Amino acid sequence: MSARPPRPGAPGRDTGRPGDVVELEVGPVAHGGTCVARDNGRVVFVRHALPGERVRARLTDTSHARYWRADAVEVLRASTDRVDPPCPHAGAGRCGGCDWQHASVAAQRRFKAEVVREQLHRLAGLDHPVEVEALDGAPEGLGWRTRMRYTLTERGEVALRGSRSHEVVPAADCRIAHPLVRAAVAGRRFEGVDAVEVAASVSSGTVVVTPVAADADADADAEAEVVESVRGRRFRLDPGVFWQVHPGAPDALVDAVLTGLTPRAGETALDLYAGAGLFAASLAEAVGPGGRVVAMESDPQAVASAARSLADLPQVSLRGVRVSPASLRGLAGAGADVVVLDPPRAGAGAAVMRALLALRPRAVAYVSCDPASLARDLAVAVTQGYSLVGLRAFDLFPMTAHVECVALLEER
Ligand SMILES: C[S@@+](CC[C@H](N)C(=O)[O-])C[C@H]1O[C@@H](n2cnc3c(N)ncnc32)[C@H](O)[C@@H]1O
Repeated sequence: MSARPPRPGAPGRDTGRPGDVVELEVGPVAHGGTCVARDNGRVVFVRHALPGERVRARLTDTSHARYWRADAVEVLRASTDRVDPPCPHAGAGRCGGCDWQHASVAAQRRFKAEVVREQLHRLAGLDHPVEVEALDGAPEGLGWRTRMRYTLTERGEVALRGSRSHEVVPAADCRIAHPLVRAAVAGRRFEGVDAVEVAASVSSGTVVVTPVAADADADADAEAEVVESVRGRRFRLDPGVFWQVHPGAPDALVDAVLTGLTPRAGETALDLYAGAGLFAASLAEAVGPGGRVVAMESDPQAVASAARSLADLPQVSLRGVRVSPASLRGLAGAGADVVVLDPPRAGAGAAVMRALLALRPRAVAYVSCDPASLARDLAVAVTQGYSLVGLRAFDLFPMTAHVECVALLEER
């Protein structure tokens, strides 16, 4: 390691440069795959460390007045949660794809539960027990990722990026990629393009490899479809359309949403940020031909995929629109009994939450991949007369800091 010599706890030190090495007592996990430490009072977010450890850490970013970033490069006192990373590309200065390769899978789930609990408490004033549930199919937390976007080395081999850097790390053997994905890129070189997207379906065995040029949209084979089966229904997807990347995720999330909402025959349901219609399909079957499902999604390819897959469900109305206060106000006439919303990482936002809850649904299932935006949106729901009555969290992204939650809201 080409780091400068350590400066353990230099008193009163208020300057630091990237490359300096400091000794740190590592505290709790933070949102985003780091742990919190303090260097003479200043917060340092440390990667590759674990709570309770003492480490030497190399500063990687000292540009912020209130906090620095660092990578643990030597462990002086190890946590009992520490394991040898199963991936050879994990570690300081290497691949940025995973955050927790150096922690046991059980500890990773504990950390994620702590982060969800802390975000709910701090951002929404909600105290709720959280347990992160494992999914079937990847007990060691490896081989689960069915969608990958690879960058390329100069030789055209698939690669991933370093953490917060443009560093290129050859990664055909990425350990979290599903074996179908790895087999599709192993030994291959891609020329004349900048990236490669791979989408694999475990349920049907289909794999689509799409080379992508920087100055063009993904150059997918126009005929290519990824076929996914969930609860006996075939979803026929354009390869670029959003789909959960863990093979166990669709079933687990649909089950959590249906169990939470208990949609009844004849009810009106909304599926917001509907993607290819994963939730709309199950809601439609639950409300039956006498009920109604309105699905809103802004990606035209996702709407087209949903139209192909849900053609036999006339009670579903697919709308290729942005979810917004205006588009939700347009639903005021028919109202909504139950709602599932599954927004991107930034969350739905206060204005959408207020417009949605003005429809006074009896129950809302909020599916979220970001506990911070979830907590902010739940805080708005509380001001609109709704209570958090249930929360499930799933380990859909082992080895990374990501976690998926399904929060259930009911009208007070
Ligand atoms: C996390 S995905 C969920 C998709 C789907 N519920 C599923 O589980 O497969 C979020 C979806 O929201 C869509 N989206 C993003 N912003 C949107 C907006 N303002 N209005 C409607 N859809 C949006 C994206 O295209 C994407 O399909």
